[in-house]
This record gives sequence, C-alpha cells and structure tokens, in this order.
Amino acid sequence: MPHHAFDVIVIGSGAAGLTAAINLAQRFRVGVLAKAGLSDGSTAWAQGGIAAVLEPGDTFESHVEDTMIAGAGLNNRATVEFVVENAPAAIERLAELGVPFNVAPDANGWHLTREGGHSHRRIVHVDDATGRAVQQALERAAAANPNITLLPDRVAIDLVTSRHGERYSGDGHVWGVYALDRASGIVETFTARATILATGGAGRVYLFSTAPRGATGDGIAMAWRAGCRVSNMEFMQFHPTCLYNLEVKNFLITEAVRGEGGRLLIPETGHRFMPDFDPRAELAPRDVVARAIDHEIKRLGLDFVHLDISHAPPDFVRGHFPNIHARLQELGIDITRQPIPVVPAQHYTCGGVVVDLDGRTDLPGLYAVGEVSQSGLHGANRLASNSLLECFVFGEAAARHIADQWDDLAPPPPIRPWDESRVTDSDEEVVIKQNWTEIRRFMWNYVGIVRTTKRLERAQHRIRMLAEEVGDYYGHFRVTPDLVELRNLLQTAGLIVRSALHRKESRGLHYTLDFPETLAEAGDTVLAP
Ligand code: FAD
Ligand code: SIN
Repeated sequence: MPHHAFDVIVIGSGAAGLTAAINLAQRFRVGVLAKAGLSDGSTAWAQGGIAAVLEPGDTFESHVEDTMIAGAGLNNRATVEFVVENAPAAIERLAELGVPFNVAPDANGWHLTREGGHSHRRIVHVDDATGRAVQQALERAAAANPNITLLPDRVAIDLVTSRHGERYSGDGHVWGVYALDRASGIVETFTARATILATGGAGRVYLFSTAPRGATGDGIAMAWRAGCRVSNMEFMQFHPTCLYNLEVKNFLITEAVRGEGGRLLIPETGHRFMPDFDPRAELAPRDVVARAIDHEIKRLGLDFVHLDISHAPPDFVRGHFPNIHARLQELGIDITRQPIPVVPAQHYTCGGVVVDLDGRTDLPGLYAVGEVSQSGLHGANRLASNSLLECFVFGEAAARHIADQWDDLAPPPPIRPWDESRVTDSDEEVVIKQNWTEIRRFMWNYVGIVRTTKRLERAQHRIRMLAEEVGDYYGHFRVTPDLVELRNLLQTAGLIVRSALHRKESRGLHYTLDFPETLAEAGDTVLAP
C-alpha cells in the first residue's frame, strides 16, 4: 500500500484548504487532497460575495452586531471580532492573488452589494459568480507553488491516529489520513506532523440542497470517529431562494437579488408577503425569509413563490446578475421581464467540529477550518457572505499556528497500512443507493425548516436501523467512494438529529413547534464521542 509523507496534509481544496496550504507552503511541504476535482467544493459555487467593512461610514462594531443578531446571540463574540477585524486585509490579499473584484468609484474603490441582515453595503463580489473567481485564483497560486502537491480524486476515509501506529498509543494524536485513490482503487496512507480538515459542509444530507454532490459531512464524521467534539449541528441553514425547476434541482438565486430590490410575491395574486412577516421584509436574515416562504407554500398549497426583479432597469439586472440572467434565459425565463420561481433549500452547515481561534480541534495535530468547523462565528444562523470570509481568516490562522508550534509537533511514528484482508468486493451496490435516498428524504421531511419532537424521533429511529445495516456493509465489503460517503452522511444525519432533540427551544435556524420560545440563556449544543 503506497505511503506518502508530507509536513502538513490538508484535506480539501476549497477556500479554506487552499488558503491554509498557500500560507503553509512558505516553509513546509504540503499535500492537498480533494475527493474529486479540485474545484468541486462549494467555494466555486458561491455567488453573492464576501463580507467586509469597506464602505465609508461602516464600522467593525456594526458588522459584529449584524453577525450576532443573525446568530441569535449564540455566537462567540471573540471569534466574531477576530473574523470581522481581519476581513479587509483578507480581501486585499485575494485581490493581490488576482481575484478581479468589481470596482466602483465609492467605497475605497470596491463595488459593494447588499445582502439580508447587513445594515450596510458590505459585500465585495465578482459579478454574481464570486466563488468561481476566488477558486481559480487560489488554485493558480497553489499550482504555481513547488511546495504544494495537489492530489485530486483522493477520498479521505479515516484519520490516522495513535491507534494506527505500529505500536498502539492512546494519546489521540492525529498523524494524517487514509485515502482511497479513485483511479487505482487502492487505499493509501498520507502522514504528516499536522493535518487540516477543510472538507466543507453536509448539505447533501438533505433531499434539496444548493450544495455540490460532495457535501456529505465527511470531515465532521471523520473527526467525530477520531474523538473530536462536534457542536451546534441542529443549525442547518436553508437558503430562501433556490430555483424551482424540475430538471435543475440546485441552482441558487443569490441573496443579492433581494439586496438590489428583488421582491417575494405570491404567484397567483402578486401579493408581496415579506412585510407581513418582518419589518425588514426581503432583507430580513435568511432564517426568517426561509420560514416565511415555507409558511406561505404550506398555507396556500403552492409549489413555489416568485422572486421578482423585473421592475429594475434591464441593463441594471443584466449588469449585476449576468450569470443568473444567462442561465435562466437558457431555461426560458427572462428575469428582466419575468419573476423567478423559487423554494428554500438546504444551503449551509453552521455546526461542525469544535475549534479555537487557531483552528485547533480537541486532538493534537488536527485542525479544522471553513464550513467543516464550528468556530463560534455563526451562532444559530450564519449571516450572508460571512462563510468564505471565515475560510480565509481561519485558513491563515491555522497555518500561522502550525508554523509557530512546529518544533513542538512530533514527527509521525510508523503507521500500519490499511488492512483489507477480511473484506470482499460488494455484490449489492443497490443497498448504497437505496439508503442514500432514504436518508435524504426523511431528513428533508422530518428534520427540515420547521421541526417537532415526534418527527425528530422518527428520523432518529430510522437512523439507528440504517446504522446497523450500513455498519454491517462497511465491515464486510471493500470501500468505494459511495460507501465512504454513505457512512459519513448517516453519521452526520445522526449528529444533526441528536443535536436538534437536545435543544428544548427555538433559536435561529432551529425552529420546533414543541418549544417555540427562545430561552433567556443561549448555549451551544456540544456532543462528545
Ligand atoms: P468547500 O469549498 O466545500 O471544499 C471542500 C473540499 O473538501 C473539496 O475540495 C472536497 O473535494 C474536499 N473533500 C470533502 N470530503 C473529502 C474527502 N472525504 N476526501 C478528500 N477531500 C474531501 N458563502 C459566502 O460567504 N458567500 C457566498 O456568496 C456564498 N454563496 C454560496 C452559494 C452556494 C451555491 C453554496 C452552496 C454556498 C455558498 N456559500 C457562500 C457558502 C460557501 O461557499 C462555503 O461555506 C465555502 O465555500 C466552504 O468552503 P470550504 O473550503 O470550507 O469547503
Ligand atoms: C448568496 O449569494 O445568496 C449566498 C450568500 C451566502 O451564502 O453567504
């Protein structure tokens, strides 16, 4: 079984992983794993942009307050201040890497757009496809760096811990990862003094999600199995406006459409309903908007509501949203003249692996950055465009900490290779597909925007039954990418449901009919393995 040794292993090639890798590569040899193509994570799909205080008159205090209000008081103020205060410098560095942000004569040169929950224009962007430009710039910088080895098509299976040493030690240290090479089908060992999880979120636990295919909670599940605490998993964010189209199931319509004046309407009557729910109307935080849409869809038996920007001048609409305009034109909708049918869909995983301000997890040698982590930034609901920002700030923080502590990080001991001596090839791939679909469906129906204890218990019951089946399957058959993902998807679903059952109140994204009030005291839900 091949063994690859690096100074640092980064699992994930999105904004978080590549930022960490580029910063580390000034001194260290870094291996970056991606489970498919390098650009296949959520980063390349980001539309709206990145939040930072750049407008004259805007302040760090205001960005901090907006973040805490959206987060329903559950945020860690120190983390919020750390991220907000580092945002302008992070934007400068991205511009230096060649991200072609839109510019305007005001706001110190940047063109800033507006999104829900922000009390200022604060979002730097590249048209309506910011993530693609960011991903391209980071990939260019990483590929040009001789200290970085990019390793696409490597599916991380499990972290290498002290248990996997040739001589067993129970100190919980993480020394790298076992990963399946898609091309050869062989499980390889990657070892390093430090390992960074940057594997993104778990959106695909739900039937409808704006997230890409690979968002299956792999990092959260791997960290949990290795012994890390996982926190606030009940706070799954639903984006209010995903395109409703029977063919194209996960195309996001950016929040910036509402930021630039888009209105939410009932299709038959044209009634603008958001003012009935919140004085901030379409610019309320997205949990409020998603719940309002869900309410109207259920109350009136609709398939979708309308998002309409056709009252704005056509040149303005085409200029601000060229990609959305072109994509919807292909689907027969001219957004300069017609409304867009939209529904809420899962969008972001606010909870994750517990980390400190250096991105350190509970286990020595293991860091987590980006959507996989729970840093205290988002609380009970993420403020729009704060997540890419978290990736840059924490990617740098983790790299800095590893460099500062390098001499204290011991080199890995000899590690046992992956053992496949007692498994065979699967003869029933259909089991994987069936279970995958079942999980996503009951998570959508029972653990969605509005919850009840009874529905959560139903989901928990099914998860327990499936856990036995999937565990048995995993124990007997050779691993495949789909099996790795199914196991992680199920474990992550279990963590979401346990966390949701644990919270006896409604707060931010967690809304349950059995406990509609918000408790006076805000506390994280922390699960320990
Ligand atoms: P990702 O970019 O998702 O990257 C994850 C990486 O981990 C990938 O390389 C993947 O291959 C790898 N990986 C996962 N599992 C494994 C495994 N088992 N083995 C090996 N590799 C693995 N946020 C904003 O701030 N602004 C926006 O405008 C915005 N728009 C969005 C639009 C959409 C449609 C979506 C889905 C999200 C949006 N977000 C936005 C959220 C934001 O894009 C993500 O939170 C952010 O990109 C996450 O970055 P990341 O580096 O943590 O993970
Ligand atoms: C969007 O463009 O609406 C997404 C912004 C975000 O998720 O932060």
